Amino acid sequence: MTSVNKPPVVTIDGPGGAGKGTVAQAVAAQLGWHFLDSGAIYRLLALSAQRAGIDASQTQQLVALAQAMNIQFPAVGKQAGQALLDGEEVSEDIRSEQCGQFASELAAQAPVRQALLDRQRQFRKAPGLVADGRDMGTVVFADAPLKFFLTASVEERARRRHNQLMQKGISATLGDLLKELKARDKRDSERTAAPLVPAEDAITVDTTDLSAEAVIEKVLKAATDCV
Ligand code: C5P
Repeated sequence: MTSVNKPPVVTIDGPGGAGKGTVAQAVAAQLGWHFLDSGAIYRLLALSAQRAGIDASQTQQLVALAQAMNIQFPAVGKQAGQALLDGEEVSEDIRSEQCGQFASELAAQAPVRQALLDRQRQFRKAPGLVADGRDMGTVVFADAPLKFFLTASVEERARRRHNQLMQKGISATLGDLLKELKARDKRDSERTAAPLVPAEDAITVDTTDLSAEAVIEKVLKAATDCV
């Protein structure tokens, strides 16, 4: 099923807090493959728009910004956490819940998604790519030979987000996080442009009661068997 002449891709989609970032990054590191955190690209667009005073209704300006913005990921992955906008380190700024909400508003617009397609596809390089997002398996890398969809109960996802924020010294209440995750889930799942759904050929894993290590092992095994 591997596409002719194209490096293999493992896609890992799912809602926020399902563990995609941790798993995708660890799998990429162990395979020695590239890693794409597509959510970070939407978050960088949100931050860039916010700084330029562009709101979610200004689609044309958002498309222009999506095409022109200068972004870089110098260290591999989300945990390394380095994202640059116009050469400035903004890794902390893009992780706020507010930036995530704004990113999901912009991400609901088809022209904005279209404008970001090529940028995402450029991450597909030899020896392979692990891509984390919402539509990696359904749209961006629809021909990927191996696709996962990670889920977890919304309560468990809120708890994980809470722990992550606490570790970074950022205060947030569990109740607020739960509300924000539910709002984002609803917007991401109900939008008409690339809604959050598992690809038909995706393997769905409910991670509510699984450790990150167990999920990483499962994905690694499937990836090794597949390529
Ligand atoms: O994964 P993360 O929480 O960083 O993504 C932020 C937002 O960006 C998501 O809520 C979603 O609306 C949007 N997104 C998307 N498609 C992707 C990745 C992220 O629509 N492939």
